[in-house]
Amino acid sequence: MSSKTWTAVDDYIVASLFEADPVLDAVLKANRDQGLPAIDVSAAQGKLLALLVRIRGAKKVLEVGTLGGYSTIWMARGLPKDGKVVTLELDPHHAKVARSNFERAGVSDKTDLRVGPALQSLAALVDENAGPFDLIFIDADKPNNPNYLASAMKLSRSGTVIVCDNVIRDGAVVKHNSGDANIEGARAAFSFIGGEKRLDGTAIQTVGAKGYDGFAIAIVD
Ligand code: SAH
Ligand code: DHB
Ligand code: MG
Repeated sequence: MSSKTWTAVDDYIVASLFEADPVLDAVLKANRDQGLPAIDVSAAQGKLLALLVRIRGAKKVLEVGTLGGYSTIWMARGLPKDGKVVTLELDPHHAKVARSNFERAGVSDKTDLRVGPALQSLAALVDENAGPFDLIFIDADKPNNPNYLASAMKLSRSGTVIVCDNVIRDGAVVKHNSGDANIEGARAAFSFIGGEKRLDGTAIQTVGAKGYDGFAIAIVD
């Protein structure tokens, strides 16, 4: 099966199950027009994040890696009125585009975007006692996965759901000593989750409009 089939099936999923969504279409158009890389989650994945927020009954969500805020908006939509997504982004241009997308989507009140290296922002959140978060989505620079997971543990409670994106990478995750920092980052996520007694997790391989990849999902004991 080709990636063309995967994209056609993603289109079918959206056409069958999702309402027309001119706002999210405009968000993705703004992201591309502003030169952001096309590494937003797919629509099907975004809706999964929104559903996980609802399934968890989450009120406080943390995201590491905002880009243009496409995944942030999906998660914000899954929150109750008084819910909040704190989202962390390094690149000021990405953050500016994301802020305007939050306005466009009417979720500015439900989002708290913090600009800077996520490791610093996470340390500040720990200092502020901003946790615990109910769901944490890790989707930034992959070599820092273990550091983000370690911070996530400090901002968690029993029952917190942690999702880590892009941990399969065309199946390259099984390569030892690949010399590729992104693949090593994916493997480090597996090592962390497998080695942390307080986490019970799995990973799901995915195909679709964004190719062959996957995510890890874990719950804090
Ligand atoms: N979650 C987004 C995609 C995020 S892409 C979505 O699905 O719509 C990864 C983002 O992480 C990029 O915007 C990149 O600038 C950001 N990033 C990379 N290194 C970072 C760091 N050290 N701290 C915070 N953000 C970082
Ligand atoms: C990459 C990052 C992502 O967050 C993603 O969803 C896909 C690819 C990357 O850096 O290659
Ligand atoms: Mg990703």
